[in-house]
Amino acid sequence: MSSSSTKSDRPGSEPTTAKRQTGDIASTGNAGATTVDCRIGEDGIAELRLGGPEESVVTFTAERLDALESAIAKLRSDRRLRGVIVTGPGPRMFCAGADVKLIQDITEPAAGERAATRGREVFAGLRALPVPVVAAIEGPCLGGGFELALFCDLRIASSDRSTQIGLPEVKLGIVPGFGGTYNLSRLVGLPAALDLVLTGRMLRGKPAWKRGLVDHLVPPEKLLATAHRECLALADKGKKGPERRLRGMAWWLSKTPLRRLVVRAATKKLATGQAKFYPAPKTALSCCTNAFTMPAEQALAAEARALGAMIVTPESKGLTHLFFLTERSKRLGKSEDAGAVDRALVVGGGVMGAGIAGLLANKGRDVRLCDLDLDALARAKARLQKDLDKRTRRRRLERHEARAIQDRLAIGTDWGHLGRTDLWLEAVVEDMGVKQQLMAAAIARGLPRDAVIATNTSSLSVTEMADNVVQRDRVVGIHFFNPPEKMPLVEIIRGEHTSERAVATACKLAVGLGKFPVITTDAPGFLVNRCLSPYLNEAARLLVEGTSPEAIDAAMLDFGMPMGPCRLLDEVGFDVATKVSEVMHNGFPDRMQPCELFAAMVKAGALGQKTGGGIYGAAGKGQGPGRRVIESLRSQRTAPGREASRSELVQRLIYPLVDEAYRCLDSGIVASEDDLDLGLVMGIGFPPFTGGITRFAKREGRAAVVAALDELSRTLGPRFAVSDGLRRRAVE
Ligand SMILES: NC(=O)c1ccc[n+]([C@@H]2O[C@H](COP(=O)([O-])OP(=O)(O)OC[C@H]3O[C@@H](n4cnc5c(N)ncnc54)[C@H](O)[C@@H]3O)[C@@H](O)[C@H]2O)c1
Repeated sequence: MSSSSTKSDRPGSEPTTAKRQTGDIASTGNAGATTVDCRIGEDGIAELRLGGPEESVVTFTAERLDALESAIAKLRSDRRLRGVIVTGPGPRMFCAGADVKLIQDITEPAAGERAATRGREVFAGLRALPVPVVAAIEGPCLGGGFELALFCDLRIASSDRSTQIGLPEVKLGIVPGFGGTYNLSRLVGLPAALDLVLTGRMLRGKPAWKRGLVDHLVPPEKLLATAHRECLALADKGKKGPERRLRGMAWWLSKTPLRRLVVRAATKKLATGQAKFYPAPKTALSCCTNAFTMPAEQALAAEARALGAMIVTPESKGLTHLFFLTERSKRLGKSEDAGAVDRALVVGGGVMGAGIAGLLANKGRDVRLCDLDLDALARAKARLQKDLDKRTRRRRLERHEARAIQDRLAIGTDWGHLGRTDLWLEAVVEDMGVKQQLMAAAIARGLPRDAVIATNTSSLSVTEMADNVVQRDRVVGIHFFNPPEKMPLVEIIRGEHTSERAVATACKLAVGLGKFPVITTDAPGFLVNRCLSPYLNEAARLLVEGTSPEAIDAAMLDFGMPMGPCRLLDEVGFDVATKVSEVMHNGFPDRMQPCELFAAMVKAGALGQKTGGGIYGAAGKGQGPGRRVIESLRSQRTAPGREASRSELVQRLIYPLVDEAYRCLDSGIVASEDDLDLGLVMGIGFPPFTGGITRFAKREGRAAVVAALDELSRTLGPRFAVSDGLRRRAVE
């Protein structure tokens, strides 16, 4: 719903503006921000700008809606008016949607319904004007912004990379409420509308044009001139806009009883997997269907009611909370202390190094990837190539963009000259000695003083790693998760000597790569692996006690996790899990004793997906060789085996995670509950609809969590002992 895109001046991008500005119709502002700016030219074409040049992100607030309404009223009574162009305040910004603060503050369904009706009625004023209204779109045109554009008679989009068009409301647990479900469904047909509305998918200019969301696609510098020309052409013909009709399959699947097939398929999809936890897409499905089964007024009123119902759901409140946490995380990248990272050297081209180097190149950095092993480098190269081919095939990337990414990535065994390197990052084997040696070598080989030295370690001490570095203030942990291209979280680890500048630079880089940084201190497992450790350990114990992997995984999927812990262990690999569990055990010997299953799986060579099977078989299907290992451990037990119930599984797997999260907060690993919420949603996939782990704990009742853990501690042992911090909070 919002975007951090910033506009910049592009000389020559608005050739028509200065010439035509003759009459200032409405320029309303408050606290330095122009809400709507409207000027009418000599030729009778008005330019209505959403916001003033000082606004880098435009959203719909109550004030802007008022200003828009009065600007439309003035236009209506202006006898010079021949047409209107609606556009953003400047290049690379149209409107990012409704102000999320407003969404968060609404707690009554009726208030939500009123807000929706109000917005839609203001926008409908544009359609009611007797002259053509053309939307000229560049930058984010999302949510309410796109709903406004849908009320225009013609939409023209710029091909600039910043252009993003869509209705992402379901990502905030709500449905489009300003007429979006009705207008989009009528414009492109039910199947295409559902594809966008139910997923919240956003499209760049070209795919938006191909799918009929916009009528024309033009280069950025021609946007306003084209909008102006098209508007005049329509005005000359005395027309509001082009004739529109659904055709072919879009018509059959929207306007005939065949529509039921589309609805049935969408309903089925929304009932499976994680989708079943989110009510908004199901409600949006009926809203889009209403566009073909109800008269317009009725369908639009139903849409406003649906928004009112969704805006107060706990899921929406959880998702809006997370939205603000992601915005907060992005602000970590804005510190004035931060240095730029334009050139990077990544040492270690394995699973992580190759992914990180590819990500850097994708995001416009010059990067050199080095490894001792030529095979690893060949694999890294092939992996990047495969990714680029896939994205060009799917038209997410133009060929020249793919070539530019390839050109930015150099691969070799030699580090080359380090003189112009801004970031040196190691992702070699998890071995303190090797990592220390490489850091010392980086300094010896002339890494500039202001370059940052980073490690991607998942378990070793960043402080200790910096021991051999003369200027250890610049050593910082930048912990990407696997796969780095996809995982949204990056832990930024502040060692004992790490400078503010190194932390700020790492945060800025993470944000620049499209990630959400969370700053942690340097302690075993940092935040994510530390919380994950008791969770995976307990899953292993449950397996050995007699619960089936399928039952454990199903209980966690039912709880809302994206993947069950047994499947996750197979993906991580029992070798890696064993290493991490040893580090965690050293750090917290009283409660993180590794389950015997880890070592037994390693001994049997049933490491998981990397060896063709672990608990599950190759490619995650069927039973893997690890089942025999589990059976053998079960047979050695004296206590009778038993299957844990669903509620026991939740208590034994999730409640210790809650306790561990609060322990991390109380020992200063992270600074706030917000960090816990964001870190665990983005790092382990804790269900986003809960709003994060601390919100979950409060909703569940922290006293109830403590009582259950006390009982588990009494029956199963001290690993469930409750921390003082959680116990104190339970009585708050
Ligand atoms: N795999 C994960 O899920 C994951 C996740 C987060 C962090 N990490 C961390 O990232 C680091 C790398 O992990 P990985 O899974 O990519 O390992 P990997 O085994 O896939 O790759 C390590 C690479 O380092 C290379 N290497 C070893 N010594 C080298 C040297 N002196 N110079 C240059 N290259 C050298 C190896 O040839 C190998 O290609 C580790 O510190 C690990 O803890 C891993």
